Amino acid sequence: MSTDLTPERPAAPAPGPVCRRLVGRTAVVTGAGSGIGLAAARRLASEGAHVVCGDIDEEAGAAAASETGGTFVRVDVTDPEQVEALFRVAYETRGSVDVAFNNAGISPPEDDSILTTGLEAWKRVQEVNLTSVYLCCKAALPYMRRQGRGSIINTASFVARMGAATSQISYTASKGGVLALSRELGVQFAREGIRVNALCPGPVNTPLLRELFAKDPERAARRLVHIPLGRFAEAEEIAAAVAFLASDDSSFVNATDFLVDGGISGAYVTPL
Ligand SMILES: NC(=O)c1ccc[n+]([C@@H]2O[C@H](COP(=O)([O-])OP(=O)(O)OC[C@H]3O[C@@H](n4cnc5c(N)ncnc54)[C@H](O)[C@@H]3O)[C@@H](O)[C@H]2O)c1
Repeated sequence: MSTDLTPERPAAPAPGPVCRRLVGRTAVVTGAGSGIGLAAARRLASEGAHVVCGDIDEEAGAAAASETGGTFVRVDVTDPEQVEALFRVAYETRGSVDVAFNNAGISPPEDDSILTTGLEAWKRVQEVNLTSVYLCCKAALPYMRRQGRGSIINTASFVARMGAATSQISYTASKGGVLALSRELGVQFAREGIRVNALCPGPVNTPLLRELFAKDPERAARRLVHIPLGRFAEAEEIAAAVAFLASDDSSFVNATDFLVDGGISGAYVTPL
């Protein structure tokens, strides 16, 4: 797939043969209605998992569940009771909670430089991006501990590892929190058969990003120059990493900052 933002760059490769690594597993995905969550729901389902699609957007979440043959649960991931209900539904309808992909997140325009970002905007982003991950892990862990097995994947970002002069201060801080929280849980629960990893995507070719950069090509070019692969990721490429982390193929991958960033974090100077 090529992106209109990067026509001269090599496109993402076509998808390879389908694996069936998740047959019989139940996977809860938050933010399943759009972007990375939707691509992950599709990929996990294609590998045999029953996907419980959680989203605050009823229409998009229900469409994702219907397309993937899964179950839709409307959830606001900042609400403890709704989050508990999400995982309870997964357990009660399918008998296990094998995978938790805690992915829902926001990046609103009010979250900008620390000089202009107000406390309300700061708190809202912390709630949706970080407190939600705490709540989802807290709700998933009791089921996984009972089973003696589970894979938790929390969506952080490459900005948890690297600073940007074009700041979104609360977003960056929230993703740093997701990374630290995931690492600690991965260490604490490893001997109970539960792995916890933070997924750190680079910038993904989502509608939001396309819209942002269509308005400001100079801004797009300024970002692209930092990516050795010369293009943004496709959501399916991030979903492939999710499926790997969800499956037993990653059985010795734990407590990591699992970067899927096209080499951004490894780059000092990139080719023009
Ligand atoms: N897109 C990128 O370039 C990129 C890069 C790195 C990390 N991420 C992270 O990946 C995750 C997904 O991003 P995306 O680009 O796919 O976003 P997206 O906006 O396409 O999808 C996010 C989904 O989360 C849902 N959501 C938002 N608030 C919610 C809430 N309170 N409760 C439940 N659901 C809620 C939305 O309805 C939407 O369906 C986010 O955590 C984001 O920070 C994205």
